Amino acid sequence: MRLDKFLVDCGLGSRSQVKTYLKKKQVTVNGQVETSPKTQIDEKKDQIAYQGQELTHETFVYYLLNKPKGVISATEDARHKTVLDLLDETARHKQVFPVGRLDIDTHGLLLLTNNGDLAHAMLSPRKHVDKIYQAKVAGVMDEADMQAFEKGIELKDHTCQPAKLEILSVDQAARTSTVQITIAEGKFHQVKRMVAACGKEVTDLQRLSMGSLVLPDDLEIGTWRRLTQEELDGLSVFGIPLA
Ligand code: URA
Repeated sequence: MRLDKFLVDCGLGSRSQVKTYLKKKQVTVNGQVETSPKTQIDEKKDQIAYQGQELTHETFVYYLLNKPKGVISATEDARHKTVLDLLDETARHKQVFPVGRLDIDTHGLLLLTNNGDLAHAMLSPRKHVDKIYQAKVAGVMDEADMQAFEKGIELKDHTCQPAKLEILSVDQAARTSTVQITIAEGKFHQVKRMVAACGKEVTDLQRLSMGSLVLPDDLEIGTWRRLTQEELDGLSVFGIPLA
């Protein structure tokens, strides 16, 4: 691999930026200063450092985003800000994409990666990956709704798999509820449509978890971090190479 490509892949900056770092003698290969972007390196064997810090080459990258409302779960859009706009240069260079979609007005946990096989496995209906949502609802959800969820809600075009509805609180005076909903599917507007099928309306929707990934309490809305090793270990159940 060319040295400049390696440096860009490591998230150091654009091709022209890394060229400047090379010119300034800030990059070493096996301890020797290298200034030519064309130098061929072996990313598995050679030790590459920038300003004395060793760089490691990653094929796959994993980002956990606390998606805010108003941003779309796509990689590009002519009109709206996308989740990619919230990540860093490395994410864009590595061409990460969201694993499944959240509606523009849904907030919460979103995984982004460039590991297509993992995304495919996590989204496969056969894998039954549970997604947990917290919803604010206009209307009082009750025992009958819990039973309907458990039985499998009938939508116009789809009978939902059995799902779990937990009622966290009800404000009888305001006629509102806060609920937690667990589904293993990912149909378009599924949670909103399931609640609508009970004659009520979701007014706020937050995703709390997807499989073993849980929205961290300290991850501010609109911010992200890379998955920890522990979180990656949790994804090994899919049997997909992660590195
Ligand atoms: N269900 C919905 O209705 N919307 C989402 O964004 C996710 C699940």
